[in-house]
Amino acid sequence: MRHSIDLSAGLCSYLWMDDLAEQHDLFSPRFKANPFPRYAEMREQEPVYCHHAPYGAQIWYITRYDDVMAVLKDNVRFAKDPEGVKDKPAEARKGSRSIYKMINRNMLFADPPDHTRLRKLVNQAFTPRRVERLAPRIEAITHELLDQVEVKGEFDLIGDFAFPLPVTVIMEMLGIPAAEQQDMYEWTKAIISPGRHGITLKERKQNIRLFVDYLRGMFALRGREPQDDLITALVQAEDDAGDKLNESELSSMVALLFVTGHETVVNQIGNGVLALLQHPEQLALLKTRSELLDRAVEELLRYDGPVETSTTRWARLDMVWNGREIKRGDVIRVVMSSANRDGAVFDRPDELDLLRDDAQHHVAFGRGIHYCLGAPLARLEGKIALRVLFERFPDLRLDGDVTDLEWHTGVIFRGLKALPLVF
Ligand code: HEM
Repeated sequence: MRHSIDLSAGLCSYLWMDDLAEQHDLFSPRFKANPFPRYAEMREQEPVYCHHAPYGAQIWYITRYDDVMAVLKDNVRFAKDPEGVKDKPAEARKGSRSIYKMINRNMLFADPPDHTRLRKLVNQAFTPRRVERLAPRIEAITHELLDQVEVKGEFDLIGDFAFPLPVTVIMEMLGIPAAEQQDMYEWTKAIISPGRHGITLKERKQNIRLFVDYLRGMFALRGREPQDDLITALVQAEDDAGDKLNESELSSMVALLFVTGHETVVNQIGNGVLALLQHPEQLALLKTRSELLDRAVEELLRYDGPVETSTTRWARLDMVWNGREIKRGDVIRVVMSSANRDGAVFDRPDELDLLRDDAQHHVAFGRGIHYCLGAPLARLEGKIALRVLFERFPDLRLDGDVTDLEWHTGVIFRGLKALPLVF
C-alpha cells in the first residue's frame, strides 16, 4: 500500500494513493456490503483515520479495540454535547427554539452532570425487572408475527418480522394503548427514519408536533391515573432531592427509546439471521444445543452488530493520537464493527464461532457512561426472536443470492434493507 503525506492540505491529509476514491467510500453500497476488510486495513495502517466527508467536514474514525474503549470511557477529552466545545452553528440555535427541542433533550447527547441526572432518573423506570417481565409478551408478539408469514411460504424478515417486533414491544412497554399504536407508529416514522419513508421536512415537523402533543396528554393522564407502564414510571421518577424529568425531557426520553429501541434490534435480528444462514454448521449447532442461545446472541453482536459506529463525540482539546493531530472541536466516531473484529482481542476475529470464549468482550453496546440502557431488552428480544424463528421454520433459507442483498448506507446503523427468505 502506497501513501503520501500532503502537508499543504492540513492535518487530515494522509492520502491513500492507490485508491483515493475509496477514501469517500465509507457509506457506499459497495463498502457497506462488506466493510470488514477495509476496517482491518484501517486498524493496521491508519487506526486514527481522517475521513473527508463530501460536504467538507473532517471526521476522525477510531478503529482499534483499545482506542475505541479509551474514547468511550473518556468524558474529559471527548464530549457528546458540542456546546462549549464548538461555536454552535446558527442552524442548531434555531433548532433549540423549535419543536425539535421537545425530542432532542436526551441523555445520549448530554455530558455530566446533565447526563448523570437524566440517566439516574431513567434507570429508576427502565429496570431489569420490568424487562424480564416482558418475556412472555415478547414471545407472544413473535408468534403473532410469524403466524402471519407462515401462510405465505416466503417473507421479508426485515419488513415482516424484525421491524414490527421491537416497535410493538417498545409501544407496549411504554403503555401506548393498542388503539393508538398505529397513529404513534406513523408519527414516529418522522423521528426514527424519515429518509426510509420518504418523509418531507414539512411532514416531519407536523408529525413530531402530533407526537409531542399526544405525549403531553399521555404524561398528564398517567400523572392523574398511574398504570404499570414505562411512561408512568418516567413521569413518577424522582431523585433524593425531589428532582423530576420536565416535559421536554420526558418527550425526548420517549423519542430516544423509540429510536434506540428498534433501529438497533431490527438489524440485530436481520444481521444475526443472515450470519447464521451463511454458516450452516453454526446454525445446526444452535438448533441441537439450545443452551448456546445466550452465547449465540453475544457472538452475533460481535460478528456483525447493528451499531457500526458510535454517535458523534467532540474533542474538547487539541491532542496527538497515533501520530495524528486532532484539534479541539473535531468530530470523532469510534467504529464498534471494527473493534469487534480486532485480532489483538479476539481469536480468529473474522470467524463466526458460537463456542468461542471471548465474544463477551465485544463493544456492540458501547462502554462507559453511555453504555446501552436497553442492552438487557435487546438480548431478550434477540434470544426469543432467534429461538422461535428457527423452531418454527427449521429449513429457513435465503431467497436469492447474498450478493443481491442491499445494505443501508447510513452512518451509525448497519443493516439490510430487506432479507427475503423461503421455508
Ligand atoms: C442489539 C441492540 C442494541 C445495540 C447494539 C445498542 C447499542 C448501543 C450503543 C453502542 C450505545 C452507545 C452509543 C454511544 O456511546 O455513542 C447505546 C446507547 C443507548 N441505547 Fe442501545 N443498543 C441496542 C438496543 C437498545 C434498546 C432495545 C434500547 C431501549 C429500548 C436502547 C436504548 C439505548 C439508550 C437509551 C442509549 C443511551 C444511553 C446513554 O446515553 O446513557 N438500546 N446503545
